[in-house]
Amino acid sequence: KPVYRLSPSILSADFAKLGEQVKELGEAGVPWVHIDVMDGQFVPPVSFGDPVVKSLRKVTDLFFDVHLMVVEPARFIEDYKNAGADLMTVHAEACGHLDRTLQAIHDAGMKAGVALNPATPLNVLDYVMDKLDMVLIMSVNPGYGGQKFIPGMVQKIRDLRKKLDEAGYENVPIQVDGGINTDTIDSVLDAGASVIVAGSAVFGGDIQKNAAALQARISAK
Ligand code: DX5
Ligand code: ZN
Repeated sequence: KPVYRLSPSILSADFAKLGEQVKELGEAGVPWVHIDVMDGQFVPPVSFGDPVVKSLRKVTDLFFDVHLMVVEPARFIEDYKNAGADLMTVHAEACGHLDRTLQAIHDAGMKAGVALNPATPLNVLDYVMDKLDMVLIMSVNPGYGGQKFIPGMVQKIRDLRKKLDEAGYENVPIQVDGGINTDTIDSVLDAGASVIVAGSAVFGGDIQKNAAALQARISAK
């Protein structure tokens, strides 16, 4: 069975206090940090790039879960490796050669994940399953924090869990990203998601308290 964990998205952090806020995550016992990179092309906004990740690497030992919302992310594999990324998740929709990109991430010494937009079918994963360390199901259309959870994604998570299990990949975790809070978290956990991203629900208000509330729900599973 995959390990259950929280991965707070720093997209909703106060960027002027980013180092301190990431340290607070560590103090709250959070194991991962979700790092949203946006290029203004794959998604409308620009967020930040590898120099920010490199600076954060100096202040924390947390696992860096980097979600690349960029066109042709293969161009940046070395940059994020050098910045201290542990896992690189690329969008299937953004890669002309998904198989090659996953291979290149592994060759660089990182874990590899594939993200799917809400409308993207699961069958794009059929012939790359052996190269997946994680699958990210987007439960909002990527680009912005604080959007509303798309309820139909609960069934998509269930379908994916079944598909992975039937193919012998019981240990490959499903990550869910977008609109997760104390109202929506149980539905995705029950459907089979085990890596839970939350941005506004962690960084809006008391970070440690918010993280603890979500972690309590995760450890109850
Ligand atoms: C959306 C990003 C998410 C986002 C989640 O494009 O990939 O990681 O920060 O934010 P919330 O949890 O506020 O929906
Ligand atoms: Zn994300």
